[in-house]
Amino acid sequence: MDKARRVILFPLPFQGHINPMIQLANILHSKGFTISIIHTRYNSPDPSNYPHFKFHLLPDQVSEDEASKHDILRVLHLLNTHCIPLLRECLGKLLSAHHDICCMITDAMIYSSQAVAEDVGIPRIVLRTSSVCSFLAFAALPLLQQNGFYSHLNLPLDSRSWEDPVLELPPLKVKDVLGIHIKNLNDTLNIINDMIQGTKKASGLIFNTFQDLEEPNLSNLQEHFRLPTFLIGPFHKFFSAASSSLLTQDRSSISWLDTQKTNSVLYVSFGSLAAMDGKTLIEVAWGLANSMQPFLWVVRPGLVQGSEWLESLPNEFLEITSERGYIVKWAPQQEVLSHPAVGGFWTHSGWNSVLESICEGVPMICSSFFGDQMVNSRYINDVWKLGIKLECGFEREEIESAIRKIMNLKEGQEIREKLSCLKEKIDGFSSTPLNALSDFICSTR
Ligand code: UDX
Repeated sequence: MDKARRVILFPLPFQGHINPMIQLANILHSKGFTISIIHTRYNSPDPSNYPHFKFHLLPDQVSEDEASKHDILRVLHLLNTHCIPLLRECLGKLLSAHHDICCMITDAMIYSSQAVAEDVGIPRIVLRTSSVCSFLAFAALPLLQQNGFYSHLNLPLDSRSWEDPVLELPPLKVKDVLGIHIKNLNDTLNIINDMIQGTKKASGLIFNTFQDLEEPNLSNLQEHFRLPTFLIGPFHKFFSAASSSLLTQDRSSISWLDTQKTNSVLYVSFGSLAAMDGKTLIEVAWGLANSMQPFLWVVRPGLVQGSEWLESLPNEFLEITSERGYIVKWAPQQEVLSHPAVGGFWTHSGWNSVLESICEGVPMICSSFFGDQMVNSRYINDVWKLGIKLECGFEREEIESAIRKIMNLKEGQEIREKLSCLKEKIDGFSSTPLNALSDFICSTR
């Protein structure tokens, strides 16, 4: 590049979205761009970790109260309404102070930033932090709605209808479709639709994923989203997510793994937002105990509704597993997954976790709670065959059997071989897609 050019980035303030946006910022910085990050007070990144970036705080209305309730829809609503005038003002100031701004990159879920970008006259590029397959499943929801998918559902579903295929969206089953698990269906569908429409109006689209994995969906993506698209993931191959962790990563998990045999430990984590009741936690616990496998389990404070941390766990479970189980509040996940002792990952199928597991060649057991997770886990099980999906939710017998399969038997070995082929491809990636993105950003303004 002849001269440094500035890119403004605005992440969605949730862990699974902050990590890839900060990683993208680091990637672009390494390509010679100057980086300005606009961020909310809520879940603010720590600027002292990034002396090479400029940070601009929006005095947002997202209160600690909302934060503590983890009300995702409410936070998304506030971001796309109350925060928008603040964003306009902030961009106005940045544009008068700097004449080198190329574009703004915002999370797909901050769809209202499209209108602001158009008003102030800068291009907006969308970062979609999840898979192409889940994005396309979201994009198809209006069609499903039109075809009467939701109105024909007789909720609560009987167990047979739950397993029916969705003809418009193979390989998804009814239970994999967003919205059927939740009460506020219309609000969710509206937000998803706004996200899709906002993306269609953007100047470009970036995914934290890679071509070899998403190949079957790429022509469909091009057909529905006629805009320059860049698959430049997995981002964490360039920069780790550790610096943007909102919780302190407990490093004792690594010393504990050091004492365990190669490929013997199941790592269990359900990400930064998932929540379950005490009964479900107990099924998870007995599934782990009955499998007889060593495990490292992240029980994030807030994972169990109405509970501080481990109070719902029976003493008997803690006693039985004290020799082979280790529980922490938050782990250095990328390091854990690359540790030789780890032989499997029971994940909630959040996209960062999936990519981190694929890159380290660790087979997955997949659960799902909301959003993209149901689609990701269906693809992992049915299409990519990189793991086993728990089809019945959280039942101790199914959990135990999946752990045994993935850690010991032939099935686990087959998955490991597939992962090792993918890992080789990732290791051999060329810099062409990233260079194309860099050229595109320079050409935007
Ligand atoms: C959210 C959604 O839930 C997910 O479905 C979507 O794809 C992205 O946004 P989250 O639930 O936090 O994300 O999951 P995930 O995408 O896996 O991101 C979690 C991040 O936190 C990962 O980068 C992981 O390495 C990190 N992490 C997780 C830790 O650093 N320590 C932990 O103990 C657990």
